[in-house]
Amino acid sequence: MRHIRIFDTTLRDGEQSPGVALSLQQKLEIAHALARLNVDIIEAGFPVNGASEFECVSRIAREVQGPVICALARTHKLDIERAAAALESAEKRRIHVFTSASRVHLEYMLKKTPEQIIELTDEMVRYARTFTDDVEFSAQDVMRADFDFVLRLYDTAIAAGATTINIPDTTGYGTPLEYGALIKRIHDEVVRGRDVHISAHCHDDLGMATANSLAAVENGATQIECTINGIGERAGNTALEEVVMAIYTRRDHYQAETQINTREIYRISRMVERYTGMVVQPNKAIVGDNAFAHESGIHQDGVIKNKETYEIMNAELVGREAAVLVLGKHSGRAAVKKALHDLGYELDESQMQTVFQRFREIVDRKGPISTEELRALVESETAPT
Ligand code: KIV
Ligand code: ZN
Repeated sequence: MRHIRIFDTTLRDGEQSPGVALSLQQKLEIAHALARLNVDIIEAGFPVNGASEFECVSRIAREVQGPVICALARTHKLDIERAAAALESAEKRRIHVFTSASRVHLEYMLKKTPEQIIELTDEMVRYARTFTDDVEFSAQDVMRADFDFVLRLYDTAIAAGATTINIPDTTGYGTPLEYGALIKRIHDEVVRGRDVHISAHCHDDLGMATANSLAAVENGATQIECTINGIGERAGNTALEEVVMAIYTRRDHYQAETQINTREIYRISRMVERYTGMVVQPNKAIVGDNAFAHESGIHQDGVIKNKETYEIMNAELVGREAAVLVLGKHSGRAAVKKALHDLGYELDESQMQTVFQRFREIVDRKGPISTEELRALVESETAPT
């Protein structure tokens, strides 16, 4: 089994979500929760971006043990120096140096030629290596760049000392086949057996971030960059809970594993939801309210007989309560009977008939009911007159 490193960037790329501004205390709590989750790397922030960002990264570096603590820096000396200073007290530190690869970024944002980008990459990755031997290099917007240039750029970064090369699909433009094929080229033509990790960094503009990250794993990537609940710029980043549970549930397929303590997933998802104010949609995979809820009669009947009929993983595995049978208008007698049994009621056929009929009238009118409401219903319908 290959070990896939989980690089969490909730506190850096995730915090770039529109409208999100976490306090120092909230960031520290999230960082501690990420350490309990057992992520390999925490990207704590972008220290050159002001005093409070610097303070957050240095507090996390000082107080959070376990994962490697990483700080972001452009290909500027000052950025690298601020990142190194903020990381000074970290047990394990990484500087993440980034530039851009696509023509539109070079021409309009960086105003540099490809040759200048290559030179700067060489110089700044070498500079970052003077502060730590764990340096990651990224070039933004790779999927819209000229791939021959991309290969040259990453080759330069490795020669200059980068130990992880991260391949960002910054605009979420790539498809799984294309992204996977590029990772394979980088693996075969650039890394060529050298001791360097390839990392996937995908955005979800077309809803393909998780699929693209997993395609990268199938083609040689050994690190995935992701955020809790998939928060991040625009449509967000790859969701940590999705890639981790996909690799776990389909480990026979991926022949890979992560070191994530999956039972912490739900707790940290709720914490990030609360602190960022970014509400998780009910049908969100793994952490949404409905992710382990069954409502239709056929599904409920199947799950009562054997959970595996409609469940590919246990809710408990991600730290949630066992799957719930929603008592709603699609529920059949089997689910109502099971809920009554769990509440301690064993009704005879005619009582069951009365209760079920009344139940249907109520849920048709007002939607799903709770088990407590079911208890009240059964008490009133079966009470001696
Ligand atoms: O999406 C992106 O390109 C990034 C880089 C800074 C790695 O977040
Ligand atoms: Zn990003």
